[in-house]
Amino acid sequence: MRRRAPAVGAPWWDSPVTDPRARHQELVQEIEAHRHAYYELDQPTVSDADYDALERELRDLEARWPELTTPDSPTQTVGGAVATGFASVKHRERMMSLDNAFSIEDVEAWLARVEKEAGPQAVVCEPKIDGLSLSLTYEDGALVRGVTRGDGTTGEDVTANVLTIASVPRTLAGDHVPALVEVRGEVFLPVAAFEELNARLLEDGKAPYANPRNTAAGSLRQKDPAVTATRPLDLTTYALGALDWGAATPHPAIGSQHGVYEVLASWGLPVTEHARVVTGVDAVAGYLRELEDKRHAMVHEIDGAVLKVDDRGAQGALGSTSRAPRWAIAYKFPPEEVHTTLEDIRVDVGRTGRVTPYGVMTPVLVAGSTVTYATLHNAHEVARKGVRIGDTVVLRKAGDVIPEIVGPVVAARTGDEREWTMPADCPSCGTPLVEQKEGDKDLRCPNSESCPAQIVDRIAFIGSRGAFDVEVLGEKAAAALVESGVLPNEAGLFALTEEDLRRVPLFVLDKDSKVKGVERKAGDLSANGAKLLENLAAARTQPLWRVVVALSIRHVGPTASRGLATAFGSMDAIRAASEEQLAAVEGVGPVIADAVLQWFTVPWHGEIVDRWAAAGVRMEDERDETVERTLEGLTIVATGSLESFTRDSVKEAIISRGGKAASSVSKKTDYVVLGANAGSKAAKAEELGVPMLDEAAFVRLLEGGPAALS
Ligand code: IVH
Repeated sequence: MRRRAPAVGAPWWDSPVTDPRARHQELVQEIEAHRHAYYELDQPTVSDADYDALERELRDLEARWPELTTPDSPTQTVGGAVATGFASVKHRERMMSLDNAFSIEDVEAWLARVEKEAGPQAVVCEPKIDGLSLSLTYEDGALVRGVTRGDGTTGEDVTANVLTIASVPRTLAGDHVPALVEVRGEVFLPVAAFEELNARLLEDGKAPYANPRNTAAGSLRQKDPAVTATRPLDLTTYALGALDWGAATPHPAIGSQHGVYEVLASWGLPVTEHARVVTGVDAVAGYLRELEDKRHAMVHEIDGAVLKVDDRGAQGALGSTSRAPRWAIAYKFPPEEVHTTLEDIRVDVGRTGRVTPYGVMTPVLVAGSTVTYATLHNAHEVARKGVRIGDTVVLRKAGDVIPEIVGPVVAARTGDEREWTMPADCPSCGTPLVEQKEGDKDLRCPNSESCPAQIVDRIAFIGSRGAFDVEVLGEKAAAALVESGVLPNEAGLFALTEEDLRRVPLFVLDKDSKVKGVERKAGDLSANGAKLLENLAAARTQPLWRVVVALSIRHVGPTASRGLATAFGSMDAIRAASEEQLAAVEGVGPVIADAVLQWFTVPWHGEIVDRWAAAGVRMEDERDETVERTLEGLTIVATGSLESFTRDSVKEAIISRGGKAASSVSKKTDYVVLGANAGSKAAKAEELGVPMLDEAAFVRLLEGGPAALS
């Protein structure tokens, strides 16, 4: 489990507290302002992580100076007040908050406290749903009221809105129903519904919502239930409040927390399917790891797990503080949404001339990595998000997804923020920018022949793994070659000499040195310079499809390049092909065919190919006659990781034997090869009844064709 870095500024324990009373007051005010914004306005002014850090600082301050603790301190109260507009209702039993754990060590400490007071205990682990809590009151099995948490003692009557939630039963099922029960749960907007809602808003040119939680909160607290009814809110229940069985005998199952869920389910109330009863810190840690893996596959957002002592007798013995039970704790995942400052918006000119604005932020840790840059896609996106330079922005990075600037925290504006405008000219070469296509939102620098930014990116792309795979030739080397004037464009790349590289400071030693006993003088080629020459020499014999990819022809990626190389066998044949011939190639089609044809009509493009050929780059594939065409006419999809093939080599193996390497499973697929951690494609193959092969069977197929499988 990761230890979390403090979310704001320097950790408080590093800075001596000079005036604890003043700091206490400051923290209380700040926390209360944030609670107001979050619970009553549904417009948070601080990220959850930063908020948690403030609460933690306050708690620690009060632990060191207990006299500062007052009954109305945020450490003693539950966030949220009762807004006007809805009738306020007193809960029969208080609605509590939860204390937080941020590491497995925190969990371990909590378990130790539980054990000390109540003996070893089994624990129910379940998702902590990121929604808003709700209390449902049922009298003799009939729903009479739905109330928000409010300040924990009194909440808002939102019954009319609750009645629009399809999963809330009007009457409890079964015949073992109490005279009165308060059922507590979390209202949420499913992620899919949230995304759909936002897609619709965008289509209508409206601003999207920031996240499902705030949307759910705003929806539940709508004045007009008809509006709430348009939002497919859902509910999961997870606790009981007041409970009076009346004439009935208490249900025997409610002696345990997991039993409570069985009873709730028997009444027809929705409960989580992800709850587990476990014992010991290792088992809890295992559950937390699994839950974090599933985090983004769930119907709702979760921000951690809730751990609850299973035995309700022990729960009673452990009791509660004024705001939270001692028998439960919330384990919070590392945050996926943080706040940071948008320091600048710059524009990047890519390989194809596409001009993309991106945000430069004060670096922040989010979902396990430090983020400084995030794309803003185009000027329309910047306008739609409404971000200004200097804004505090919400930055989101969900799992492995690319970090995204969600939007500004408008409430945090000081008035010093600056609007940004898209430049009219290319920042690299000064050429006026044009629309990517007519009416397109994306802009492009049309000067592909001599715009330095585009040339640098194209050269770096030539060195990339998907093209010639030249280790030393990355962005930095490409920029050095262009900036030194040694390479005016990519045409001369394969003809570079030692002489040339000596004129590039990056590849020259700036002082005398000794490497592995060999004396080297300032001005000599560096080891990297020598390596670049070696790498380029080796790259000359790469297969034809890699040469085609490296030309940066629009739309021509590895699939089309492989298709072209296989169909035509040489660069000359591709160059001489007609539009019809090109379009007939597997994986090509009319759009790509047109792009290829157009590309070759430009004189300086032709010159690139000619000069590469003159420098010894192999422009045709040798048919390997030793490989038998065992897969002629077969379409094969490989998925997951294989032991003795890479993603590229598996395709190579299929194509060189006359087969087609496809990327998605359809009725036309003949075989699906399943490696480790194969994902949805396995299910798809199963569904369509496509034969599935493990790696060993695949190797047999390569060697002997379908006959070798039976
Ligand atoms: S139990 C007495 N279980 O988290 C125990 N709460 O940060 C009351 N929450 O106020 C809470 N998922 O709104 C519980 N599975 C879960 C939960 C959950 C989300 C919310 C709830 C609570 C807040 C505390």
